Amino acid sequence: ISGGDTDESRNKIMNIAHRGASGYAPENTLAAFDKAVEMQADYIEIDVQLSKDDLPVVIHDDTLDRTTNGTGNISAYTLQELKSLDAGSWFDKKYAGEKIPSLNEVLEMYGEKINILIELKSPELYPGVEEKVAEALAKYQLDTSNNIVIQSFNHPSVIKSAELLPEITHGVLAGENYKNVTDQQLQEFAAYTEYFNPNLKIASSELVDKVHQAGMKISPYTIKTEAEAERLYKFGVDGLITDYPDYAEELKE
Ligand code: G3P
Ligand code: CA
Repeated sequence: ISGGDTDESRNKIMNIAHRGASGYAPENTLAAFDKAVEMQADYIEIDVQLSKDDLPVVIHDDTLDRTTNGTGNISAYTLQELKSLDAGSWFDKKYAGEKIPSLNEVLEMYGEKINILIELKSPELYPGVEEKVAEALAKYQLDTSNNIVIQSFNHPSVIKSAELLPEITHGVLAGENYKNVTDQQLQEFAAYTEYFNPNLKIASSELVDKVHQAGMKISPYTIKTEAEAERLYKFGVDGLITDYPDYAEELKE
């Protein structure tokens, strides 16, 4: 049997809405998070960076240009300035007026409704971001619950966060350069993290088995077609990080 591919594990596959239900609404906005909740996703995935006044904000790129009507670096603007921008019109004019959410807002509005997968995005640009996220979680008393997972491509940042928040589940993100990840590397990750979440291009049933043998779970990113969802599901993955939560939901039925 490959990858624990039983009926029971299939029903438990985690449906993780990437930047919210970003196939249907502008990524990393309340509209996308509401859509994910409505579509019965298990998690929303959010990207967290810091504003000029050191407040955690939810946006993917380190510049404003692609997803807002602003320009330049996120770190050049205060939260109040970022809040004046339109983060919805680029996707569809019916979403005009969507704002860049703060992490606090997302935790307050969604912390009780849905699980949250927090990506520390480019933490090397934001010294102290791990502490800021830990403070936000403590404020909403989400620090001891199990509905938060923190992940990053920056593995030293994951180590730091895991030290600050030993009760919280953590994960490492792995790009295509981890295609030939060794058992030894996986064991090193498993010393501080519970998830190894790879680019879907390097996912295989062999990788799923290796990650499970190392004692971790695996949720590949980013699923954009039904065929990809089905292929990964057959490998026995634990979760699917997808722009289209309905594709993952269909697999549960
Ligand atoms: O959750 C993993 C995935 O979001 C990583 O890639 O570029 O979409 O943040 P990216
Ligand atoms: Ca992300």
